[in-house]
Amino acid sequence: MANVSVKTLQDLKEQGEKFCCITAYDATFSRLISEAGAETMLVGDSLGMVLQGHESTVPVTIDDMAYHTASVARGNRGAMIMADMPFMSYATAEQAMVNATSLMQAGAQMVKMEGGTWLSGTIEKLVERGIPVCAHLGLTPQSVNVFGGYRVQGRTPKGAKSILADAVEIQDAGASLLVLECVPSELATDISEKLTIPVIGIGAGPGTDAQVLVMHDMLGLAEHNARFVENFMAGADSIQEALAAFVAAVKSGAYPRPEQAYS
Ligand code: KIV
Repeated sequence: MANVSVKTLQDLKEQGEKFCCITAYDATFSRLISEAGAETMLVGDSLGMVLQGHESTVPVTIDDMAYHTASVARGNRGAMIMADMPFMSYATAEQAMVNATSLMQAGAQMVKMEGGTWLSGTIEKLVERGIPVCAHLGLTPQSVNVFGGYRVQGRTPKGAKSILADAVEIQDAGASLLVLECVPSELATDISEKLTIPVIGIGAGPGTDAQVLVMHDMLGLAEHNARFVENFMAGADSIQEALAAFVAAVKSGAYPRPEQAYS
């Protein structure tokens, strides 16, 4: 696969072609995921849960993220690498600048931050200084203690309106991508159609421009799975086959199915 850039993803959206993202945390899986044809890999702060065994992503530090980003960068075969900015590492624009620099220097090509309107000034500053940003809206796991659990967001007219307004604002601030997590399918489709930047969905139905899953979930390793998770190891003879099956299912539109979405 030729090296994927933010422009590749933008072109795919304009051509109406779906693309794929899988979380990666180490060099071996980075190689396998990028060889399977996923255009992007996310070094997710989900590593706090799936690697470190925490109850949430809150305990993850910038040093954890930089370590795993560097490992993923060493195994990568051409995918674009996004790295999560962990809890409180972007509470101010100044903190964001320092911490995003660590992740970019570890090998990320983009950083991801959870939040909408309040983040727009920080997004502008990072982009001005050469750091591409992916924003994350809907169920933002770092705010689990505010939500009181992992709950679908944007189900009320007020909630949906606020997520749409945030999405427009972060695009206007210069974000290159948006992750939408656990929102009703109809809202995600509407936002994907209204925005010019690509929207990557997780638990957001089939109408987004791309899909992301946590690797451990799509390989059937989780103890409990949300409705949108599919185990791609079922029927596969190897991890490589399962990864390729996920990439193919996203690109063809076979994943996610309507019953895997929220309303
Ligand atoms: O940390 C992560 O893996 C994520 C995905 C769930 C989008 O943010």
